[in-house]
Amino acid sequence: MSHQTVIVLDFGGQYNQLIARRVRECNVYCEVMPCTTPLSQLKAMDPIGIIFTGGPNSVYLDSSPHVDPEIFTWGVPILGICYGCQLMAHTLGGQVTEAQDDSAREYGKTQTYYDTTSPLFKGLPQEGISWMSHGDYMAKVPDGFALTAHSDSCPNVAIADEARGFYGVQFHPEVNHTQHGIDMIHNFLYEVCRAKGDWTMEDYCRTAIAQIREKIGGGKVLLALSGGVDSSVAAALLAEAVGSQLTCVFVDHGLMRKNEGDEVEAAFSKWDINFVRVDAEQRFLIKLAGVSEPEHKRKIIGEEFIRVFEEVAKKIGRVDYLVQGTIYPDVIESGAGDAAVIKSHHNVGGLPDYVDFKEIIEPLRLLFKDEVRQLGRELKLPEYLVMRQPFPGPGLAIRVIGDLTKDKLDRLRDADAIYREEIAAAGLGASINQYFAVLTNTRSVGVMGDGRTYDYTLALRAVTTSDFMTADWARIPYDVLDRISTRIVNEVQGINRIVYDITSKPPATIEWE
Ligand code: XMP
Repeated sequence: MSHQTVIVLDFGGQYNQLIARRVRECNVYCEVMPCTTPLSQLKAMDPIGIIFTGGPNSVYLDSSPHVDPEIFTWGVPILGICYGCQLMAHTLGGQVTEAQDDSAREYGKTQTYYDTTSPLFKGLPQEGISWMSHGDYMAKVPDGFALTAHSDSCPNVAIADEARGFYGVQFHPEVNHTQHGIDMIHNFLYEVCRAKGDWTMEDYCRTAIAQIREKIGGGKVLLALSGGVDSSVAAALLAEAVGSQLTCVFVDHGLMRKNEGDEVEAAFSKWDINFVRVDAEQRFLIKLAGVSEPEHKRKIIGEEFIRVFEEVAKKIGRVDYLVQGTIYPDVIESGAGDAAVIKSHHNVGGLPDYVDFKEIIEPLRLLFKDEVRQLGRELKLPEYLVMRQPFPGPGLAIRVIGDLTKDKLDRLRDADAIYREEIAAAGLGASINQYFAVLTNTRSVGVMGDGRTYDYTLALRAVTTSDFMTADWARIPYDVLDRISTRIVNEVQGINRIVYDITSKPPATIEWE
């Protein structure tokens, strides 16, 4: 695939993926590379520009990450953000020090004044809010640089050496809090790096299909379809590329939401592929009977999934390629350390140990989630699949608290469908990142007509989040909650009480199990 590339050089800041997404939103391809990447490797990528990210360190400490100074004589434009800006200043002869008083140490939304004759700020208003987060301060800017933005407390908010194509900003243009931040990134790409804007999903889709065809030739391809966005889009791409050479195995474990299995099957009926839907509900329910401990449930489901998949794969015989729906954040984050395991998320896409195949292909490994969705649209997948919210591999098994029965699963499915219908009807679907019902194992007394009931309590969960690592509970209007509650207790037997979960993550997690 030949397109212009920008390198996002990662110094450990928290917004690094966001910077890369912003660049891609401007139709320019970029890759995030560790700051330790040898210069020769960066040069081999032939970038049109480099962005130094922020980072948690102080540039004047020897232990902090630095760059090969030769990067500044290479002739490639550079935009330094926060730490990246300070690093550029420090390396090129400026002086960065710890801010001595609070006025120079800036954090949060800051009124900022821009020199709009500088290419970075071209076409922008002369002032606006920027998002600052720095404790260090550029006491002296390097020779050749002009000051191009200031705030009320800091004269050196942005620097530029137009002749060499070097730009630095103390604030974070990539976060939404910075007004016109995306325009600044756009300006860097188009005014400074002379980008052509050759990264579009239409183009990606066309090229990816051609490459997949060339790679696979007449070979056989196998894909485990979960119904989630990533595996669905990967399947659609492969279906478009190689049609009947593709076999999609959809293991229906009976733990999906209402109608989900049929929807997935219907979406793929337009392609001439081998679609194998394995109805494995009985198998899973038998294995899960009497199991109430969440990690135990996950383990059983993970193992059983592999077993079913393996059986189907054996019948199909040797395949040449196994497709995995790995996406770019997984690539960037792999090997990201050993954070404590809170829940053992099993990814139903990853099965290589058990299947006889020659090679793995990962057609989405360059794409962010929103790009995967765009690609899905490009491939004419229905919107309900493309916009599907994350759904855990173990499905509703971890949303029925305690031990599982088909009856409980069916009740949860009905209640969850009503919840989703009402959220959609209220137009709230796009503003809530994940929402679902949980069937608790608490029963309580109620009254229906003239009779006493002793039925289950259903919990409603809804969160807003950008990364699913932290989340806030969604403020659903009371009248919408009221409609949902009334409908569920009236329409679903065995549920007589509805509660709304108002805990953030942390301390809670998004799922209940
Ligand atoms: P938690 O509950 O850990 O969830 O806050 C974070 C995100 O991960 C999803 N999740 C899972 N996904 N297998 C998965 O594939 C799992 O076992 C699993 N558990 C949680 C959850 O839905 C949320 O989006």
